Amino acid sequence: MEKEFLFPQIKGFVHGSDYNPDQWLDRPDILEEDIRLMKKAGMNSVTLGVFSWAAYEPSEGEFHFEWMKEIVERLYRNGIYTVLSTPSGARPAWLDAAYPEAMRVDARGLRDRHGNRHNHCMTSPKFREKVAAVDRRLAECLGSQPGVILYHISNELSGECFCPLCVRKFQKYLADKFDNDIGKLNKAWWTAFWSHSYSSFDQIEPPFANGESSIMGLTLEWRRFTTWNMNDFMKFEREVLRSVTPDVPVTSNFMRLFGGLDYRKMAPELDVISWDNYPTFHNDTESFADTVSETSFQHALMRSLKRGRPFMMMESAPGLVNWQAVNKLKRPGVHRLACLQAVACGSDSVQYFQWRKSRGCAEQFHGAVVDHLGTDDTRIFREVAQVGEALKKLAPVAGTLVNARAALLFDWDNRWAIWDVRALAADTKKYEETCLDFYRAFLRLGVDMDVVGSDEDLGRYDLVVAPMLYMLQPGTASRLRDFVERGGQLLATYFTGYVDSDQLCWLGGFPGDGLSELFGLISEEIDSYYPSDRNGIRLKDGSVWEVRDYAEILRVKDAEVLGVYTEDFYRGTPALTCKAFGRGKAYYAAARSSAADMTELFEKMLREADIPVKRMPPNVEYHVRSGGGETYEFYFNCADLPTVVPGVFGTDPETGVRLEGRLALPGYGAAVVKI
Ligand code: GLA
Ligand code: ZN
Repeated sequence: MEKEFLFPQIKGFVHGSDYNPDQWLDRPDILEEDIRLMKKAGMNSVTLGVFSWAAYEPSEGEFHFEWMKEIVERLYRNGIYTVLSTPSGARPAWLDAAYPEAMRVDARGLRDRHGNRHNHCMTSPKFREKVAAVDRRLAECLGSQPGVILYHISNELSGECFCPLCVRKFQKYLADKFDNDIGKLNKAWWTAFWSHSYSSFDQIEPPFANGESSIMGLTLEWRRFTTWNMNDFMKFEREVLRSVTPDVPVTSNFMRLFGGLDYRKMAPELDVISWDNYPTFHNDTESFADTVSETSFQHALMRSLKRGRPFMMMESAPGLVNWQAVNKLKRPGVHRLACLQAVACGSDSVQYFQWRKSRGCAEQFHGAVVDHLGTDDTRIFREVAQVGEALKKLAPVAGTLVNARAALLFDWDNRWAIWDVRALAADTKKYEETCLDFYRAFLRLGVDMDVVGSDEDLGRYDLVVAPMLYMLQPGTASRLRDFVERGGQLLATYFTGYVDSDQLCWLGGFPGDGLSELFGLISEEIDSYYPSDRNGIRLKDGSVWEVRDYAEILRVKDAEVLGVYTEDFYRGTPALTCKAFGRGKAYYAAARSSAADMTELFEKMLREADIPVKRMPPNVEYHVRSGGGETYEFYFNCADLPTVVPGVFGTDPETGVRLEGRLALPGYGAAVVKI
């Protein structure tokens, strides 16, 4: 496999930062000093213009791009490329005053007032017209500058709008989806329930806070529509840019496990996937290693949105942030660990928010490469500069990929359906946590997993874990069947295959759509536990997995029973099964056990899938990237005490030192090894 570079201009890593020179235009001395310091920090890119609309267009139709052009050119002359943002993330005051329809309406039907950011109506034709005007001139004046390598559309797109324009658009979207046939919609949404049938599309309102909340199909379709409409807005901006500068690639920065938008629907519209990474390091609710592995799950999700290409870590905090419940400093070394972790998981960029701390407003105390102190003589600056040095030495790693052979199924639709379903126990549904728990257990075995959608091709994987796949999209069941038939190892759990994509229950036995044949069982009932309730699953070797939260009662047809319940009226009945199907195996875990308890089963599945296991010492995280005939291993000591990893052979590309079976890592240490 050849290396896959994101930008022809940079055959290595992007090391950059959000940069807001518009806040310092009256300080040319500072703008000059910025360039000197950026070079000293080893930066080769900045993200410009994210919030520059008011500076570009101080009053309607009066445009000024010269100042930014000068900055882009000067940066380029100094070896610093530009990621150029469109400014739609925040609107100038004149715009909202002239066109109130640009301001969003919330779920109570209340229109926002002017202010803040990320709060525009996605539908408003007036707003789109104004966005198009500024974007077009931006592309004309700056897009073909040699320094510009990438467009960054808006900023952290998010939120819903309940304004009359959006409501009408929703009705039109539904009419299109249901072929203008209200009867079809009524059927799909089961509206005979509580006399909720509609007789025309214009009667349908989105789920206002004081409105309809009992139609699962409606709530789900509104969430889908919000993604669709946001995507429509994003594509609209993209098309304006493309019409002027078709060769500049585009991204839009995503957020961690964000629930408001189905990123998998948006990813195909972008050339590059990028996301903003702000872990809550050193918190008091989980171990540091757990914070790190959670981040790696997020990276894996982003990586899997566009397999076969590196992604970008568009933002991260050089020091601390200012919006977490407790804004704790990253301990020395953690900055390097977090940056190299992004690389290990497949990012070809390490970028920060922000370059220089602003003097005023809401983010004046948010971490930055350059503090209010204004010098390079700070711990944070030195740690950033060290990462800059490291990334230069690691340049050959860029363009390689994480080639995972195992995957975890994670769907936004399924997630939303589980959030909304009136069933189970209110506080312990925990879909995301359950996925993360499985991901972590495999990570501890040295196995990188992709995080993929149930509508994706599983052909490249040998092992798939599908936790709580409550909703089956059309085709999912047959894809899973094919996967197992051709030799895949599949694990599904309780709460699988209850509903179809309209959230209508499958009839004739769960898991539906033919999956009960694949697993050789029917799940007849599901028991929800109070937090103090416990059960167990006794395996054939006598060991017991603890069960919490959920337990299904199974009717096994033709699967092998590997474990039975230890307690309650269903004691002794099947709780863990396996059915050989074609050349593969379909496992079913009918109750919630911790993935740590299930490790031996995972090892067995990995053996059968012929995926190598590399057990790490406690608190050590491991990833592999390869491509162009080269392979790089990454090791992270996710604890503050030194540790040693045995069995490591190769060369450290940063130091040139050869490793002969023993890698010593300091507390929070991170190392790369070329093998
Ligand atoms: C987000 C935004 C940035 C900034 C940072 C602060 O990621 O995109 O503009 O507000 O958060 O952490
Ligand atoms: Zn709207």
